Amino acid sequence: MNVAILTVSDRSSRGERPDTAGPLIAQIIGERLGWDCSLTTVVPDEFDRIRDTLIEWADSDRAALILTTGGTGFSPRDVTPEATRAAIEREAPGIPEALRAASLAITKHAMLSRQVAGIRRRSLIVNMPGNPKAVKENLDVLIPVLPHALELLRGEARAEAGHRAV
Ligand code: MTE
Repeated sequence: MNVAILTVSDRSSRGERPDTAGPLIAQIIGERLGWDCSLTTVVPDEFDRIRDTLIEWADSDRAALILTTGGTGFSPRDVTPEATRAAIEREAPGIPEALRAASLAITKHAMLSRQVAGIRRRSLIVNMPGNPKAVKENLDVLIPVLPHALELLRGEARAEAGHRAV
């Protein structure tokens, strides 16, 4: 399974701060699921850059799962949820609901993440906060459902393709 990781951070995109959240996601996904996370990039908190990267990755089917980190909060430049909504075709509200619910038991600040999730073509896109601690806490909740989620998303597409071929 191929996973793409999009780090959204003005400072990391300018090289002023190392991207720690992106590599942490790759490490955790690799260790727990054994999936390849070699497609990664860092973009500033800019609506068009975020939306266009998500669309390009999904439409080229380069990743079954696209995880974003950062830009989900309340600061004026936090636009990752809006850019994600512009890229997805079908929203998956249960995922951010579950991530926020579990995170609220850890920190009340979890309610400040406006993270969303959804599907574009055959790719599932999930926003996560930018803080590495938050990333780890989100992945603890998300990882157990990912194999089934992606099996549904991609297995069905394979079945339809098989139908058409008959
Ligand atoms: N979720 C978890 N699990 N753990 C956290 O520490 N931090 C919160 C929240 N979600 C946090 C969390 C904080 S402080 C903020 S401001 C929001 O995520 C948004 O973070 P972002 O702007 O980096 O995306």
